Amino acid sequence: MGSRASAEKMSAAATPVPLSRSEVFGQLRRELFEDEEFRQSDTHIFIILGASGDLAKKKIYPTLWWLFRDRLLPEDTHFVGFARSNLTVDDIRVHCLPYLKASEAEQEKLSRFFQRNSYLSGRYGEEESFRRLDAHLGALPRGAAANRLFYLALPPSVYQDVTRNIRHTCMSSKGWNRVIVEKPFGKDLESSDRLSQHLSTLFTEDQIYRIDHYLGKEMVQNLMVLRFGNRIFGPIWTRDSVACVVLTFKEPFGTQGRGGYFNEFGIIRDVMQNHLLQMLSLVAMEKPASTSSDDVRDEKVKVLKSVQPLSLDNVVLGQYVGEPNGEGEARLGYLDDETVPPDSSTPTFAAAVLYVQNERWDGVPFVLRCGKALNERKAEVRLQFRDVPGDIFSSHCKRNELVVRVQPDEAVYAKMMTKKPGMSMQPEEAELDLTYHSRYKDVKLPDAYERLILDVFCGSQMHFVRSDELREAWRIFTPLLHQIEAEKTQPLPYTYGSRGPVEADELLKKVGFRYEGTYKWVNPHRL
Ligand code: NDP
Ligand code: BG6
Repeated sequence: MGSRASAEKMSAAATPVPLSRSEVFGQLRRELFEDEEFRQSDTHIFIILGASGDLAKKKIYPTLWWLFRDRLLPEDTHFVGFARSNLTVDDIRVHCLPYLKASEAEQEKLSRFFQRNSYLSGRYGEEESFRRLDAHLGALPRGAAANRLFYLALPPSVYQDVTRNIRHTCMSSKGWNRVIVEKPFGKDLESSDRLSQHLSTLFTEDQIYRIDHYLGKEMVQNLMVLRFGNRIFGPIWTRDSVACVVLTFKEPFGTQGRGGYFNEFGIIRDVMQNHLLQMLSLVAMEKPASTSSDDVRDEKVKVLKSVQPLSLDNVVLGQYVGEPNGEGEARLGYLDDETVPPDSSTPTFAAAVLYVQNERWDGVPFVLRCGKALNERKAEVRLQFRDVPGDIFSSHCKRNELVVRVQPDEAVYAKMMTKKPGMSMQPEEAELDLTYHSRYKDVKLPDAYERLILDVFCGSQMHFVRSDELREAWRIFTPLLHQIEAEKTQPLPYTYGSRGPVEADELLKKVGFRYEGTYKWVNPHRL
């Protein structure tokens, strides 16, 4: 699919929507896939490397099925799994079944999806295996000229071999080739540079799609529209009005047997350096010249370039400890996980304060907080505004906050003061509330992976991490990570199910975030 050419063709048709606008409003996907002639034009092959693994089973196959079910993929698309294990398509179907969410009525369609699947076993480091894969791809109907999408659902230890083998034996010579790479992209600046250098000798940047699935989430994508599509936010989105920005990721469960992977990486590499930093750059960036992928990513990179590397003084680290869970099962501590070394000092919680040293943000703390085994599941962006100057309400007014809740229950709300209704003239705390499930009752929000995989078919890289972005992200975090590892910095214990170490709240307070504890939300649906 020559997406750009097709998009140009589309924009010349009835509704002339330029490509850049299309990308932001998601129209591009609709335009491309509602055009029957276009949908039937090219053959595509989606190759899942690591097809026997957890990611493939839980995310990639289900996503491909949903896209197929909803007729969002080009008609002539084939799916090819590749891994070491000796499997059949039926085995894959059985493994994936619990995650596919296919109803009784969809069974026939599901069978059609799996008829488009094939599987090949081979070795990642062996060129001969990839020659067989190439022969298999070429033997599919119209396969020789097909566009090829390679998804690396693999451990990073085999990235180098696999990408080399793809490049040397499996590239389509007549169609285009795109490679989707999952995180982790290295472990620090040096290893990430090595990987980037390796990839750049094999593929051009526009063939590489580095996934950060947070960039596929509805509310993360909404940040640009909220910021640049509303006059009311522009003038206050600066150091003059914003006291503090808090970006939060919380999960209410621990490593749950995934301790082997997690222990090697820790929460900073797992969540903060990618998901939270990506959100930060979308919150802090200047308005891009247009909504084309590179204009947006240019602005994100500029933000990161204005951030100094982190030091331990501005960081709180934590590790959860277990506690009996009332009548239920005991909630085990991180070190009780059998897949974790008993003396591990890997943090499962981190709070860090970054400063964006540019004209807009100088002096404004950006607090990144993330943790496992906390009191709730939540990801949000919170801007806390400064006090109103020249108070005439005897200190009864609390600071305004604008919260973009990414998950669960997508919402945007602004905490604000209003006159207590009735005879009183007292100010009271209330909110302007855009709760998605009441405002958009019948809209089903696609999963992040659905959007992102579709973007790869369309050739839109806006929601993928560019190599210079990645480099800047590692530049900011590498000195801290090395220091923690060299000094074996002990994380502070926090109880499973708590809000994390109290020291994190103290850090927030120290940099100027004010928590009043007086705001009470009244859910209108429960009134
Ligand atoms: P709160 O005033 O309760 O919390 C504000 C912030 O203060 C959060 O970042 C919270 O962090 C932090 N905080 C909580 N306790 C402390 C503490 N002891 N010390 C320091 N900081 C603390 O306001 P919210 O905006 O969170 O709203 C309250 C509730 O109302 C939430 O559950 C929210 O989802 C709900 N609400 C829902 C809306 C909707 O669905 N549309 C609209 C408005 C509100 P932390 O995240 O760690 O708890
Ligand atoms: C992944 C992390 O990138 O994101 C996991 O590796 C984390 O540790 C997950 O659980 C969270 O994603 P989501 O979409 O469930 O918030």
